[in-house]
Amino acid sequence: MKGIVLAGGAGTRLHPLTVAVSKQLLPVYDKPMVYYPLSVLMLAGIRDILLISTPRDIPLFKHLLGDGAQLGISLSYAEQPAPKGIAEAFLIGEDFISDTPVGLILGDNIFYGRGLVDKLYEGARLRDGAMIFAYYVRSPERYGVVELNAEGQIASLEEKPTLPKSNYAVPGLYFYGPDVVDMTKTLRPSARDELEITDLNLAYLKEGRLRVSVLSRGLAWLDTGTNRGLMEAGQFVQVIEERQSLKIACLEEIAWRNGWIGAAEIEKACGRMGASAYADYLREFLAREVRE
Ligand code: G1P
Repeated sequence: MKGIVLAGGAGTRLHPLTVAVSKQLLPVYDKPMVYYPLSVLMLAGIRDILLISTPRDIPLFKHLLGDGAQLGISLSYAEQPAPKGIAEAFLIGEDFISDTPVGLILGDNIFYGRGLVDKLYEGARLRDGAMIFAYYVRSPERYGVVELNAEGQIASLEEKPTLPKSNYAVPGLYFYGPDVVDMTKTLRPSARDELEITDLNLAYLKEGRLRVSVLSRGLAWLDTGTNRGLMEAGQFVQVIEERQSLKIACLEEIAWRNGWIGAAEIEKACGRMGASAYADYLREFLAREVRE
């Protein structure tokens, strides 16, 4: 399974914050937003990752994350010149995907909590068809909305409906078999001139090849699409990190736990992270777990 982080878009809902810099590079408490979705793919065991962003922002992402070797992963980059929809990621990533299944995460989606890794493994095991998730929310009209029948199967799927048929939003995390590129090529742009991820999922649904997995209540899915959401996500991360004495989305920690890097890489990361709290955490982690 390969992975794609889509970190494009104009981010107009957050202007002026995003006039000069990509939304996915904004801070969510103590690290750039992109760390969180990247950590999710890594937690799913995915090591071969394509990051898609705007021509303007790719140099910044490269500056931040490089080729991924320091994390024991392979990171490559591709441009999405204009915001032409989430599903366009599969056309941009056609050569990268080649004939492997792929997981896609939106660069502004944050997941945290109990049961996350099991759900991710479930997605990462997918070999054909498609898999989406469902998360109970109060304002489903802001998202893709999935309606489930009594058997837990998909009854309907709609993008930002004015009258949602359920409270289950579809978070920005999706898994597909290798035919996702061909499936995307059958799509036509929507009224807002975008290749809609919901249309792609509907195409799989029509063929009876779309599965849904409900995210349980122990799991938090955070939205960073508004100033308030961004602020709340930062506060959430701060409270959890301080109370539980851990860091969410510490990429070096995840890489080490996955057996992808050793103590030497963590030491180097400590050096790069300067006098930050992130570096302190890595040093503690090194002393407590790695060198034990
Ligand atoms: C996109 C998708 C929507 C999904 C959401 C999750 O919406 O179109 O189906 O529920 O991401 O974050 P956007 O936030 O790009 O408007």
